[in-house]
Amino acid sequence: MNLNLVILAAGKGTRMRSKLPKVLQPLAAKPLLGHVLDRAGQLNPAKITLVVGHGSDQVKQVFNSPAIRWVEQTEQLGTGHAVQQALPCIEGDDRVLILYGDVPLTRPETLEDLLSQIDAKHPLALLTINLEDPTGYGRILRDKHHCVTAIVEQKDANADQLKVNEVNTGIMAVQGQQLQAWLSRLQNNNAQGEYYLTDIIAMAVDDGFQVRTASPSSEMEVLGVNNKAQLQDLERQFQRQQAQTLMEQGVTLLDANRLDIRGEIEVGMDVELDVGVIIEGQVKLGDGVKVGAYCVLKDVEIASGTIIKPFSHLDSAKLGQNCNIGPYARIRPGTNLSDKVNIGNFVELKNAQVGVGSKVNHLSYVGDTNMGSDVNIGAGTITCNYDGVNKYKTIIGNNVFVGSDSQLIAPVTIEDGATIGAGSTITKTAPANELTLSRAKQLTLKGWQKPVKK
Ligand code: UD1
Ligand code: CA
Repeated sequence: MNLNLVILAAGKGTRMRSKLPKVLQPLAAKPLLGHVLDRAGQLNPAKITLVVGHGSDQVKQVFNSPAIRWVEQTEQLGTGHAVQQALPCIEGDDRVLILYGDVPLTRPETLEDLLSQIDAKHPLALLTINLEDPTGYGRILRDKHHCVTAIVEQKDANADQLKVNEVNTGIMAVQGQQLQAWLSRLQNNNAQGEYYLTDIIAMAVDDGFQVRTASPSSEMEVLGVNNKAQLQDLERQFQRQQAQTLMEQGVTLLDANRLDIRGEIEVGMDVELDVGVIIEGQVKLGDGVKVGAYCVLKDVEIASGTIIKPFSHLDSAKLGQNCNIGPYARIRPGTNLSDKVNIGNFVELKNAQVGVGSKVNHLSYVGDTNMGSDVNIGAGTITCNYDGVNKYKTIIGNNVFVGSDSQLIAPVTIEDGATIGAGSTITKTAPANELTLSRAKQLTLKGWQKPVKK
C-alpha cells in the first residue's frame, strides 16, 4: 500500500513574532519543515502532501519539489479541517502518516514503528508519550483494559482527565479509506470551535477497532516549536545529541555544550574540537585534525594532522595534511592547500592553489593565485587581482621568496626560484632564479631641517 505523508504546516506561528512562516524557522540552519521532510523522506513515501496556509508562497518557494503536492488551507479551522483539505490527495488504499511541520526531530525508525502498528484490523495508530508535565497536550484516554478510547484536548478535559500523563504527539498513522469516512463525520462542537483531528480516535473505537500506540525513544523526537524559546531549547537539545554522536565516534570535545553543527560532519580518528567551533554545510576532518577555539568551518575538507588555530574562518576549501592554519586566518572559496602549508594570522586566501610546504605567515591577501611548493610569502604581501572590473591571475612558481610589503599586480608571473625584494610593486614577469625589485633608491638629504611652527 502506498505511503502518503500528510504534513500539516498551515499554522501562522503567531508566537514566533516573525515574518518568516513558522515551518521555515531554522533549527541547526535548516528550516523546521526541512527536517521533517528529510527524516520522513527516508521512509520512501509514494506521495507527500503538504497542507499550507500562512506564508504558503514562501514555503512553496523554499521547498519547490515536484514530489510535493500542495494543499491550501486558507482558514485554520483545526487539525481535522487541515487534513480534510488534503482529502483530494488521499486514496482509499493509502497508508496515511500525519505529521506536523513544526515537529522536526522524529526519527524515521519511530515512524516505521508507528506505521507497523496499522493493518486491516487496526486502521489507526497513535504516537504517544508520557510527560511529567502534560499541560497543553491532548490526553490519551484508556479503559480498564488499557485500550485507547479517545483523546481529549486540554481545554475540553475534566480534572481527572487533566491528570493523565500520556499525551497525543499529534503524529498518527491511518488507513486512507477509514480516514475518509471519519473526516466526513467531524464536528466542531468543542471548547475551541475547531475541527479536531483527534475526534477520529473515538470514532475508530465506536466502529469497533482497537487503536494501537507507539512511542518515541525520547521526548525530543516529538517536541514542537511554538515560540523562539522552544526553538532555542530544541536547538540546544539537538546540538547536544549531535555532540554525543561525535564523542561516540571518538572525537574529543573540550565542551560538548559549546559546539554547533549546522550541517554534516564526517570525522577520522582523534579529532579534537575546542570550544565555540561552528560547523556548517558538509565538513570532513581527517585523522588527528585539531580545530581551535571559535573557528567557523563551512564546506571544507581537511586532511589528517592539520591544525586550525583559534578564530579562523574557512569556507569552501580543501586542505592537505599537516598544515598549520591561523590563528585569525580567513580561507575563502576555491582555495586548495597541499600538504604542510602554513597560513598565519590575518591572512586571507581566495581561490588560491598553494603547493607543498609553502608559507604565507602574516597579514597578506592571496587571491586568484596558483602558487608552487616551498614558497615564502613575506608579511603584508598583496596579490592585486582586481582592476575594478575584471579579476586576473597571479602565477607563482616553486621556491619563490616574496619580500614583505610587496604588491603583485595581476596578471603576473613570478617564475621558479625568483626572489622579490621587499616593498616591490611587480607588474611584469619576474624571471627565474633572479632578484627582482622595484623601489626608489634610498637617499638621505644632508642638512635637511624639520619645519618649525609659525
Ligand atoms: C494538537 C492536538 C493535540 C496534541 C498536540 C501536539 C488536535 C485537535 N490536537 O493540538 O492532541 O497533543 O497537537 O502538539 O489535533 N494546523 C494546521 N491547520 C489548522 C490547525 C493546525 O495546519 O487549522 C497545524 C499547525 O500548523 C501545527 C499542527 O497543525 O503544525 C498542530 O496544530 P496546533 O494548533 O499546534 O495543535 P494543538 O492545539 O497544539
Ligand atoms: Ca502545538
